Amino acid sequence: MGLRRSRGPPPPWLVIMLQMIVILDRYIRKEDTMSPVDILKEVAAEVSICTKCDLCKGRTKAVPGEGNSQANILFIGEGPGLNEDKQGRPFVGPAGQFLEELLASINLKRSDVFITNVVKCRPPNNRDPEPAEIAACNDYLDRQIAAINPGVIVTLGRHSMAKFFGSEKVSVIHGRARRIDGRVCIAMYHPAAGLHQASLKDTIRADFKKIPVIIEQAERMAAESKAKPEPAPIKEEPPQQMSMF
Ligand code: URA
Ligand code: SF4
Repeated sequence: MGLRRSRGPPPPWLVIMLQMIVILDRYIRKEDTMSPVDILKEVAAEVSICTKCDLCKGRTKAVPGEGNSQANILFIGEGPGLNEDKQGRPFVGPAGQFLEELLASINLKRSDVFITNVVKCRPPNNRDPEPAEIAACNDYLDRQIAAINPGVIVTLGRHSMAKFFGSEKVSVIHGRARRIDGRVCIAMYHPAAGLHQASLKDTIRADFKKIPVIIEQAERMAAESKAKPEPAPIKEEPPQQMSMF
C-alpha cells in the first residue's frame, strides 16, 4: 500500500560489505589467540548478518546462543522458535521454561551454562532444520564449542544428538553418556518433547538428574587415569560408551 518496509533483510551490498569486514577482521585477529568471550562475540556478530542458508530470509533476529563463556556444560538444542526469533535469545519460550526448571533441579542457572542451537535462525513454522541448513551453520557451532571448550555437551533432541551420536535413536540412548573427542556427551530428549507428550516429562526430569552423577563419574575416571602411568597413545579412538548408564 505504498508503505516502505521498515524491516526485512538488509540490502545485498551491505551484507557483502559486512561479511568482507568480518572475514578481514578474523584474518587479522586470528581466533586461536582470542579470548573465549571475544570469539563468542565474533561468532554472534557473524551470525546476526549471516546469509549462508535460506533460513536468513524468514528470521526476525538470529539466535547465536548465550551463557557463560567458561561453562563446563554446553546445551545444544535444535533451532530458535517463535519467541527466540523475536528476542534473539535461545530457549525463552515454553520449552525454555521447562529447561530452566530442569537446570534448577540440578542446582544450575542459565548463567552457569552455555545454551545454543544447531541452527541459529528460526525454521519456518518451527519445522525441522534441513541437513543443508545444519551443515551451513555447523562452523558457528564448532567455533562456539572450541571457544567454550566444555567438558560436557548435552544434546537436546535428535538434531544436535546426530552431530555427536550419529544415527542412533533418542528413544534408545536418552540419558546416556559417551566420551567423544575428549568430552562427555549426553543425549537428552528435547524439552519440548515433554511438553507435547506428558509421559516423557518425568523421563526427561530423571535423565537430567543423571547429569551431575555422570560428571562426577567422569571426573573420578579422569583422576584415576592421571594417577596411572601414561598409556601408549591410541591413534583413532572410537566413541566410548561410558559404563554407568
Ligand atoms: N527449541 C530449541 O531447540 N531451541 C530454542 O532455542 C528454543 C526452542
Ligand atoms: Fe546462517 Fe545459520 Fe542462520 Fe543459516 S541458520 S543463515 S547458516 S546463521
